[in-house]
Amino acid sequence: MNKKPLLFLLAAVAVFLPLSNLLGLSGENEPIVAVSGTTPNFAKTTQIFQNKCVDCHSPGMTRMPVYAKLPIAKQLMAQDISNASARLILSKALYSGEEKFTPLALARLEGAILNNSMPPHLYLSMHWAAKLTPEDKQTILAWIAEERALLPLSKDTTKALKGEPIQPLPLKVSVDPQKIALGKKLFHDPLLSADNTMSCSSCHDLTKGGTDQAKVATGIKGQQGPINSPSVYNAMYNLAQFWDGRAKDLQAQAAGPVANPGEMGEQWDHVVSKLTQVSEYKTAFDTLYGQQSLTKDTVTDAIAGYEQSLVTPNSRFDKYLRGDKAILTANEMAGYDLFKINCASCHNGPAVGGLSYEKMGVKQDYFKLRGGPLTETDNGRFNVTKDEKDRHFFKVPVLRNVELTFPYFHDGSVANLAEAVRIMGKVQKNKNFTEEETNNIVAFLKTLTGEYQGKSLAPLTK
Ligand code: HEC
Ligand code: HEC
Ligand code: HEC
Repeated sequence: MNKKPLLFLLAAVAVFLPLSNLLGLSGENEPIVAVSGTTPNFAKTTQIFQNKCVDCHSPGMTRMPVYAKLPIAKQLMAQDISNASARLILSKALYSGEEKFTPLALARLEGAILNNSMPPHLYLSMHWAAKLTPEDKQTILAWIAEERALLPLSKDTTKALKGEPIQPLPLKVSVDPQKIALGKKLFHDPLLSADNTMSCSSCHDLTKGGTDQAKVATGIKGQQGPINSPSVYNAMYNLAQFWDGRAKDLQAQAAGPVANPGEMGEQWDHVVSKLTQVSEYKTAFDTLYGQQSLTKDTVTDAIAGYEQSLVTPNSRFDKYLRGDKAILTANEMAGYDLFKINCASCHNGPAVGGLSYEKMGVKQDYFKLRGGPLTETDNGRFNVTKDEKDRHFFKVPVLRNVELTFPYFHDGSVANLAEAVRIMGKVQKNKNFTEEETNNIVAFLKTLTGEYQGKSLAPLTK
């Protein structure tokens, strides 16, 4: 949206209308008090939300300023409300305390507070009283920390750090060991491909951070794919699978590569008949799935079960979160501080990502910066929803073990982690990090390298 016309319009209106009129909000909904059982910080936070935020973030319940009735202003405000609601809806159930904010909403709120980005500057030029005071900010941040401390995910975090946007990965997984064993065998079995040459692990090598460390994947007969292979480690934390989220879960995902002519190029009924001839498989499926035995569904279920065990806990950062205060260096801590301000609104939660779809290029055009022709995969989430608003949106990648999952981005266009960090700063935040800042963020990101089955995934050269 071009903001200049609105600014001029507002300035013009301001000349003609008494200020009190402009600031007076004419609406039906009276401020409401937080429901009982909420904390003093929430009681204050909800008043701030109702006084300073709901006008744009509660569609249908907004109190419109007088100028909003003017034709152009009306349109521009509708645009604001629509953009604001796409990012955060402050429903009455939420601001009354009846419903809990999601971890993602908390991360976005924290980002907006730390960046001083809300309410928008243009709005503040008219509604100066809506500016957040330092005390408001402190209150909101304290409330966010309290909310996060209540999340089951935070149970392993040491008390003082329960308010952080990242939580430690669990040390144990609760998946049936028999299912894990069967899924593991299938994951590594080339019988799942048409020419019996390629398994899931060909592109998701567990010694390479769960990826192939190649720009794009190579399928059977040397076919080059259109997109970079993401990691299978910690993929269970993704809100959906694939860069564009087209598979709703791990089981649905596992059906894809087998039948994809450019990847494993096999037909599922062939896979089932090939596996049925292996007596070991037949017995394992009979034991685990009984009557259902060996079908496409049980094969993908076993693989998904195995993938639920591909969790990489006990990284240095996790040890920090669990209470080892001295484990991080000053540079790593400085990097984490920068990460919280600039990155954690999108990369958060136990996997440090995977919880939302976000635009690649919020502030600057990534694709122009990259150069080269736009491909179909560059459309991202748009390919699934066909909604123009989703063009160039991608599932936020998990940043666990990110030092091993190069090259970076859906197009695999960046080989170096520092370069990926610089690009993120630029295109997502309009920031040019200094070399020192970039190095510190990279140092922090390397603390996210964890362990699989008690062994560090870190490169041996260290
Ligand atoms: C004049 C309208 C307006 C007001 C008032 C307003 N916002 Fe927003 N808000 C927006 C718009 C537009 C966006 C989406 C575009 C953007 O992020 O700049 C947004 C986005 C956000 C986001 C999402 C940030 C992200 O990570 O994408 C948060 C969180 C947020 N607002 C919080 C607040 C809070 C808290 C207040 C009150 C202190 C507030 N907003 C007041 C218009 C508003
Ligand atoms: C030819 C290489 C190749 C093979 C073989 C392959 N994958 Fe993948 N995998 C990819 C690529 C490329 C993507 C990303 C595709 C996309 O997002 O459009 C992907 C995505 C995934 C994802 C989603 C991760 C995320 O963050 O969204 C999972 C999980 C996964 N694969 C598991 C498997 C399993 C299980 C198998 C075996 C049944 C398998 N893959 C076989 C290349 C491969
Ligand atoms: C607005 C949301 C958002 C913000 C803010 C953000 N990222 Fe990202 N990040 C993404 C998305 C979406 C992708 C995937 C983009 C793609 O592949 O085209 C991504 C990709 C990455 C990757 C590549 C991971 C991989 O496996 O390919 C790294 C590294 C990364 N981000 C680090 C950062 C850092 C460091 C910051 C802060 C300076 C940051 N991000 C801020 C959304 C965000």
